[in-house]
Amino acid sequence: MTTVPSVNWSYPTAVRFGAGRIKELAAVVKLAGMKRPLLVTDPGLAKLPMTAAMLDLLKADGIEAAVFSDVKPNPVDSNISAGVAAYKAGGHDGVIAVGGGSGLDAGKLIAFMSGQTRPIWDFEDIGDWYTRADPAGIAPIVAVPTTAGTGSEVGRAGVVTNEETHTKKVIFHPKMLPAYVICDPELTTGMPRMITVGTGMDALAHCLEALCSPFYHPMSEGIAVEGARLALENLPRVAANGQDLVARGHMMSAGAMGAVAFQKGLGAIHALSHPVGALYDTHHGMTNAVFMPYVLKFNRSAIEAKIERLAGFCGIKGGFDGFLEHILKMRADLGVPHTIGGLGVDDAKRDLIADMAIVDPTAGGNPVELTRDAALAIFDAALSGEL
Ligand SMILES: [Fe+2]
Repeated sequence: MTTVPSVNWSYPTAVRFGAGRIKELAAVVKLAGMKRPLLVTDPGLAKLPMTAAMLDLLKADGIEAAVFSDVKPNPVDSNISAGVAAYKAGGHDGVIAVGGGSGLDAGKLIAFMSGQTRPIWDFEDIGDWYTRADPAGIAPIVAVPTTAGTGSEVGRAGVVTNEETHTKKVIFHPKMLPAYVICDPELTTGMPRMITVGTGMDALAHCLEALCSPFYHPMSEGIAVEGARLALENLPRVAANGQDLVARGHMMSAGAMGAVAFQKGLGAIHALSHPVGALYDTHHGMTNAVFMPYVLKFNRSAIEAKIERLAGFCGIKGGFDGFLEHILKMRADLGVPHTIGGLGVDDAKRDLIADMAIVDPTAGGNPVELTRDAALAIFDAALSGEL
C-alpha cells in the first residue's frame, strides 16, 4: 500500500478512515443530530491550529461549537462535572470528543453524564451497574482521535480518576461508544516522537495482552493478531519519519484494533502500569513498553504457543525467544528505557504497587495468576533489568 486508502467502516461503529477526512466533520456532526456541539479536548490541543481549523470547518457549515478544555492529562471527576455544567449552560446537544485518551475519555464521559441524575461512581464497570443509567440522557458523541494508541474512539468506556481516593475508575455504558469516528492520520503527524512511541506501544500492549488473555473470544483474538502485526511493522516507521502517512494510518488502525480486542481482557502489563502511572505520573504507554518483555517472560509457560503463532504470522523467526528479542531490539531502537528506573521509578513504593496491581481490574486477564509475589517479582525484574 503506497497511499492511505479512504474507506468507511461500520465496525465496531461508523468509522470514516482516510487522510484529510476531518473535512467531513460538519457532515458527521449533522448526521449525529447535533446543531450546537460542545467540542471537548485537552488544553494543549485546544491551542493548536488543528482545533481552530475544526471550529472553522463547523462554522462554514453553520454550526457554532463551543470548546471545553479544562481537562487534566488523567481526567478527574471535577473535570467531568465542570464539563457537564458547561454543556448545560451552553444549551449543547452533543459532544465532539477530540484528542488522545484524555480528550476522548473526558468528552465521552461528559456526554454520558449530561443527562444522568446519579453520581458518576454509580456507573463503574462492575456487573450490570451500567443499567442504572438513563440511556435517553446520553448525548450523541462524535470522536476524533489525534493519537494512535488508546483506541478510546471505538470504546464503550471512559477512565476517570477519583480525586479523593486517587484511584482510576472505569465508567462503562454501551451507548458511550461514539456514533461516528473520523480517523484521519494527518491529525497525528504533529505528535512528538516520544508520544508517538508511547501511544504506539500502548496499542501494541493492548493487542498482545488481549491475545494472551485466557478468555474465549476468538473474534477479539483475531483482531489482536493483525493489530499487533500492524503495530510491530509500522511503529518503527512512524518513529523514524513522523510524516509517513501510510504508516501513521496503519498505527491509527492498530490503536483502534487494540481497543476492540481488549474486551477479551488485558493483563499484568496494564495491572502494573496503572499503579506506577498513578503514583509516579509516568506516561501510560511508555510504562507499558518498559514492563512488556518482563511480563511476556513471566507468562511464558501459558503463552508460548500463541506467541510462536504470532511470530510466524509477523515473519519473526525464532519462536518465543525470537519474538522476545524482536521486542527488546525494537524497544531499544525506539528509545524506550529498559528499566522502570529510566522513568524515575525506584523501589520506595514497591509493596504499594504490588498491592494495587493485584486488585487492578486488568489483573484478572493475565494468563498466569498475578499473585502479590508475582507482581513483586515482575516489578523487581523491571527495576533491575534482569530478564
Ligand atoms: Fe493501555
